[in-house]
Amino acid sequence: MCGIAGYIGYRKSLPVVLESLKRLEYRGYDSAGVAFFDQNGGVRLVKAKSRITGLEKKLNGFSAVEGSAVIGHTRWATHGAPNEKNAHPHSDCSGRIFIVHNGIIENYRSIKADLIKRGHQFISDTDTEAIPHLIEENLKSEKNFKKAFDAALGRLVGAYALAAFDVLSPKNIYIARLGSPLVVGLKKEECLVASDPGVLSGKFKKVIFLKDGQRGIINLNNSVFYPKSLEISRLDSDFKSAKLANFPYFMLQEIFESPEVIKSALQGRLLKNNVKLGGLEQVADKLKKIKRLKIIACGTSYYAGLLGECFFEELAGLPSEVFLASEWRYKKEPREPQTACVFISQSGETADTLAALRKAKKEKYLCLGVVNAVGSSIARETDAGVYNHAGPEIAVASTKAFISQAMVLILMALFLRQLKSKSIPNNIFEELDGLPDKIKSILKNHLRIKSLARKHLKRRNFLFLGRGYNYPAALEGALKLKEIAYVHAEGYAAGEMKHGPIALISKNFPTIAIAVRNNGTYEKILSNLEEIKSRGGPIIAVATQGDKLISKIAGDVFYIPAANSFLEPLLAVVPLQLFAYYFGTLLGYDVDKPRNLAKSVTVE
Ligand code: M6R
Repeated sequence: MCGIAGYIGYRKSLPVVLESLKRLEYRGYDSAGVAFFDQNGGVRLVKAKSRITGLEKKLNGFSAVEGSAVIGHTRWATHGAPNEKNAHPHSDCSGRIFIVHNGIIENYRSIKADLIKRGHQFISDTDTEAIPHLIEENLKSEKNFKKAFDAALGRLVGAYALAAFDVLSPKNIYIARLGSPLVVGLKKEECLVASDPGVLSGKFKKVIFLKDGQRGIINLNNSVFYPKSLEISRLDSDFKSAKLANFPYFMLQEIFESPEVIKSALQGRLLKNNVKLGGLEQVADKLKKIKRLKIIACGTSYYAGLLGECFFEELAGLPSEVFLASEWRYKKEPREPQTACVFISQSGETADTLAALRKAKKEKYLCLGVVNAVGSSIARETDAGVYNHAGPEIAVASTKAFISQAMVLILMALFLRQLKSKSIPNNIFEELDGLPDKIKSILKNHLRIKSLARKHLKRRNFLFLGRGYNYPAALEGALKLKEIAYVHAEGYAAGEMKHGPIALISKNFPTIAIAVRNNGTYEKILSNLEEIKSRGGPIIAVATQGDKLISKIAGDVFYIPAANSFLEPLLAVVPLQLFAYYFGTLLGYDVDKPRNLAKSVTVE
């Protein structure tokens, strides 16, 4: 994980790097640091066990020498506790080499042991620190820094995006990429390197996305990249930066953006009862031959994938299977003919999803992406795909992205249905158009959810139940509560509850159940809730407006508008997201940046 940034240019370098790191905080925020040439002629290394604003305070009064290298890092700890000692940049014994790194060096233990035998002294517990010491060791026999740098990289196993400088050449930043993303913006008298193109937007029109195995030396005059074959890309203006507007947290703002997010996902894609997906049209002939789909993703995107499985099977008649990317990437299964893979990712940078995509490409599957972040690695490396157009999602907990992913998957399923020359029933278009207003009506009632969260605030365990389309929504509701409020929550298929989890039920263990009408299993879920009630478990139900029965079983009910069964989870998940939000904020947590997490999981 982690975000890295490096700058050389005519502008005040420290603020440029700090601003870049702020934009990268979604990749980790447990500590941060910078290294730069200060006005006294030396290198200054400043670190803080804090977010970037804390680092900024420590840097008050410092400035970097104009036109010299500055590198910075925002960390999500993998090796070594989140503290100043382990924060980047890291250096060698002599203080000549400074480096920031995103990724994991898998063979660092053996490298470190070898270097310690040779007299190197390590001060951190990180894998990264092995790199500057390795370069230092190479410099004993090799005078050329670039050669020592390349030789060090040649020994590393794992993943890295890194930026380094040599005290003896202050006007160069050495960069390299293997597995973790790295992008460089270049213009006259200015270069900025960062983990994410969003950092460069508005500043650089032309950028270079480093490919795996590529390296470079960037500076003000003649930056070089090797091996060559680097393509210059134009940076789309789609990289909008999000601002908080009248909401205390991005998470709440993003939940409230859901109606707009649905409209953007639909915009220009529903034409005269036809679904038009420009991104898939180029592979339409290949898609016509497809008989099966594999859906591959992590976390919330995986739960959207579970919905996708239902959409593809029910709406497009295509057998589908969903896999966790971290499992599928190592799975030994026979290659399946006439199968396409769908990769879902908000960030487009999730390491496991990206690795699974690369495996699928090697196996010659047609690879499709459902991605929100424009220009991200997954968006660029899939054969074709559909963007969510949900705008940047800042809060670590995914909310609006889940809704837009589900929306895009419905559109893809309808598109695939059309390819089979099956028409789409008219009422589906009407239902899709009506969805934003239904969500708005739920959002109007958000304070009712707040009072439910307050009422149950002392509880430390929750069971979330759903069936069919609402099972993924229940899983998602449980994940939200865990990550935002640090409360144990389990999502379960309601019918499975009696096969084990019912043992947990007590008056202190509430169940949140999605018990909506059109699900086709309404009566079944009522029976499941009766079973819980008879064992004294409190029940909060998300039910369909007009349902008179449910309040006889559930102690608390939140009503949502009726909808076609495949759209119900998009409505049902909203109160669950709000419940987690209010639970977390009522407990006093910073819900946008929950502990131990990062927005984009770029390590295995
Ligand atoms: O960027 P991605 O959609 O690939 O991210 C996948 C997961 O890391 C992400 O959904 C994570 O589970 C969120 N924190 C959930 O709120």
